[in-house]
Amino acid sequence: MIRFIHALFALAFIALLSGCGATSEKRAYEYMPDMSRSPAYKAYAPNSVTRDGLTLQRPVSGTIPRGFHTFHYGPGEDEAARAGRELENPYRASPRTLEEGKGLFQTYCLVCHGEQGKGDGPISAKIPTPPSYVSERLMQFPPGRVFHVITLGTGKMPSYAAQLSADERWKIVTYVHAVLQGLGDRGQVAQNGGSQ
Ligand code: HEC
Repeated sequence: MIRFIHALFALAFIALLSGCGATSEKRAYEYMPDMSRSPAYKAYAPNSVTRDGLTLQRPVSGTIPRGFHTFHYGPGEDEAARAGRELENPYRASPRTLEEGKGLFQTYCLVCHGEQGKGDGPISAKIPTPPSYVSERLMQFPPGRVFHVITLGTGKMPSYAAQLSADERWKIVTYVHAVLQGLGDRGQVAQNGGSQ
């Protein structure tokens, strides 16, 4: 019996807390609302908890976001040649990489360079004619140099870094090198076991 009365009191207490002040216009009283809804700061709101008083914190200096690739080359012939010497293509000419590289090439490069990379794309007559990929000069380009061209652009060709991620650029490089220049896996350095 005493247990029953205790339970009754407990129930009445809960009912009292949750029902406090509830009318049709007013919200019911909430007991310790912070337990279920913590206050969220807006990104640019002042913040008394952090050292600099800002909510949004700067990235730690010297760190890079996950998946970000650094690119330590400037524009110009010398820098392009250096990229050609130093950069290694992380992709091998596997059927899957070639398939993806082909799709990306046809979306982003074909319009000027042509399906076979001969410099005869649909709009090539309206722009300075792009060089053929099998010209003597371009056949000498190591993969890293083509990556440099796509990343920074060159002469009249704009940069495609904003449209293509570093991985997508390397896939295009692999396709151009292996298929359009007919060089297969030559000059490509396999670092990922060719799975991609
Ligand atoms: C808007 C037209 C256009 C598009 C799109 C384009 N290119 Fe070019 N590309 C050019 C022109 C024009 C040149 C010649 C640039 C110059 O020497 O002034 C060129 C030159 C090049 C060269 C030779 C650079 C050199 O040093 O001689 C390579 C390699 C190249 N493009 C690759 C690509 C790849 C790969 C893509 C696709 C991601 C691409 N291009 C997309 C117009 C384009």
